[in-house]
Amino acid sequence: MSASSDYQVFCESIDLDSKRIPKHVAIIMDGNGRWANERGEERVFGHMNGINSVRASVEAALRTGVRYLTLYAFSTENWSRPQEEVNALMDLLVSTLVKEVQDLESKGVRLRTIGDLSTLPKACQDQINKSIQSTQHLDTLDLVLALSYSSKWELVEATKKLMKSGVNPDDLEASHIEEHLATSGIPDPELMIRTSGERRISNFLLWQLAYAEFHFTPVLWPDFGQENFYDAVRDYQNRNRRFGGLLDTNHTMSKQG
Ligand code: IPE
Ligand code: IPE
Ligand code: MG
Repeated sequence: MSASSDYQVFCESIDLDSKRIPKHVAIIMDGNGRWANERGEERVFGHMNGINSVRASVEAALRTGVRYLTLYAFSTENWSRPQEEVNALMDLLVSTLVKEVQDLESKGVRLRTIGDLSTLPKACQDQINKSIQSTQHLDTLDLVLALSYSSKWELVEATKKLMKSGVNPDDLEASHIEEHLATSGIPDPELMIRTSGERRISNFLLWQLAYAEFHFTPVLWPDFGQENFYDAVRDYQNRNRRFGGLLDTNHTMSKQG
């Protein structure tokens, strides 16, 4: 059976329209600390358990035919957390990549990153680069990790590059800005999911989410499983996307005279 009919059969089995699967899903993975606190554990315990939800989301994306999955893993602002938590998150990133990269590779997942990688510890940078290299030829799913990322950082960087390129301000178009974003070449997400009940963007993909549908769920990230992912896609498929136009083709302009 071809990959596309596999997606179709699976989507039908869970009541999703395989023809309207978002190409790109972006997730703000939030609530790890609260999940751990509820269990009387340290925050890092929540981060460790959040890895299961990353695995579940990758699996759900692969099963439904999502082509790009962007995960907000560490924001520019997260550097302000206690050093101990930052160190634990960096260690977790390295150990997870070491453990998971072969499995990702076998599933056709290409790892990419957006963010200021130069601010990460050297061991992280090395492991990330290694994982990127070993998966760069794959094209079933692009898994984009946002690391030391913030949208304002990205837009400042893009602006610097544009100014250095000497583009005439009068000729500036949206596509010039897009070319200089960290996400250059990646289509904008149609669906953005945020867990943990918070309803904000927290400096994530401000430009790229201009016309995305937002799905907010109270589920804390470590509890987020494949079913929650499918629920979000179902919610997305029930939205009317108008892009400023009109959906109703029967509307009539009142004619004069
Ligand atoms: C998300 O969970 C993970 C990161 C931001 C790295 P949090 O650590 O923000 O968990 P809460 O929001 O404090 O519960
Ligand atoms: C956003 O979550 C960043 C990531 C998920 C990596 P935060 O928990 O850091 O965001 P705020 O503080 O609630 O805005
Ligand atoms: Mg949080």
